[in-house]
Amino acid sequence: MYQPVISGTGVFTPSQTITNDELVVAFNAYADKFNTENAASIAAGEVEPKPHSSSEFIFNASGIEQRYVLDKDGILDPDVMHPLLNQRDDDQPGVMAEMAIDAARKALSEAGVDGSEVDLILVAASNHERAYPAIAIEVQELLGAQGFAFDMNVACSSATFGIQAASDMVRAGSAKKALVLNPEICSAHLEWRDRDCHFIFGDVATATLIERKEDAKGAHWDILSTSCATQFSNNIRNNNGFLRRTRPDGMSDRRDMQFMQNGRKVFKEVLPMVSKHIADHMNEEGLDASDLKRLWLHQANKTMNDFIGKKVLGRTPEPEEQPNILQYYANTSSAGSIIAFSQHSSDMQPGETGLICSFGAGYSVGSVIVTRRA
Ligand code: COA
Repeated sequence: MYQPVISGTGVFTPSQTITNDELVVAFNAYADKFNTENAASIAAGEVEPKPHSSSEFIFNASGIEQRYVLDKDGILDPDVMHPLLNQRDDDQPGVMAEMAIDAARKALSEAGVDGSEVDLILVAASNHERAYPAIAIEVQELLGAQGFAFDMNVACSSATFGIQAASDMVRAGSAKKALVLNPEICSAHLEWRDRDCHFIFGDVATATLIERKEDAKGAHWDILSTSCATQFSNNIRNNNGFLRRTRPDGMSDRRDMQFMQNGRKVFKEVLPMVSKHIADHMNEEGLDASDLKRLWLHQANKTMNDFIGKKVLGRTPEPEEQPNILQYYANTSSAGSIIAFSQHSSDMQPGETGLICSFGAGYSVGSVIVTRRA
């Protein structure tokens, strides 16, 4: 058995941002247009009018101030209301592969590892731009990596589940150097015309390099242990898939083909599940709250994170103990906790321990306990 360690992380951040104010202006223009076009049906009580969104609501309900996206123009055009991401020719790199490669190169450079040394690639994300060949295998080719690669999807928990899968393989010896990549194009599966959720997501890609401890060239993080759990729920769901063609009523613009959630229920059901999961995981490792220097939590909602942080530490965490990045990135699905880890961990001292945790659709929750080593 080998001790798996995290020796590098990387974040690809798109160049375009949308502030809450910009988003709300576009949404309200779309709503006004919809209401004008449907004035007769609305007056007849056949169609519900679309209410306005507000920046104040968005910030107060979520803590989000802006989001990064791959295509701002399409999202903010009241006649389009989605990113304009054209399918590329088969001989060009896919969009997810391109984002993943950028994050991967940063992680490899931090670890001092060449792409050709990697022998396992997992592309773990909540939505994939195609069914097959696996995006991970395309990344393997583009990086000149060896071994094998595959895609996996556990929605917002994809990164921690990917880290568990990769670290178990490194521990067992079936891989030596593994990249877990989370290219999340959330803007493509968000319904930007739905006021209740149009502000939630942003785009990003993260990368985590896992290798044997004896091969790590510099500072790294021992993966002490990982823990994953799932429990079925329909409260976060996206029905997009090949069965969409077989719906008998022939509807072409089905709301359930994009991200759907019952946000209030998610709050109520996921918070106790995650708090208990983290407590059980720490217990299994013989750790108590005073042993944890930092929590890198899934980044969906600030209130949610504040609640979990307080529950785990038994007191209100200091801002540096539970860093939030969702004010800049919004919810980036599986990538959120890895952005927080990547951007808010370099100050930690050898011997200090922290916990990465992601949670979301499924329901699913995954946690990874890591200790800094020189
Ligand atoms: N602008 C203005 N008002 C809005 C609005 C918007 N963009 N969106 C919703 N509202 C209104 C609602 O219509 C509702 O009005 P009502 O009380 O008259 O019915 C009111 O604001 C409260 O809406 P609600 O959805 O209950 O808000 P909330 O406080 O639960 O916050 C979320 C919404 C989505 C931010 C929150 O539920 C959440 O973050 N849940 C967990 C999400 C999560 O983790 N999901 C996982 C995704 S991977």
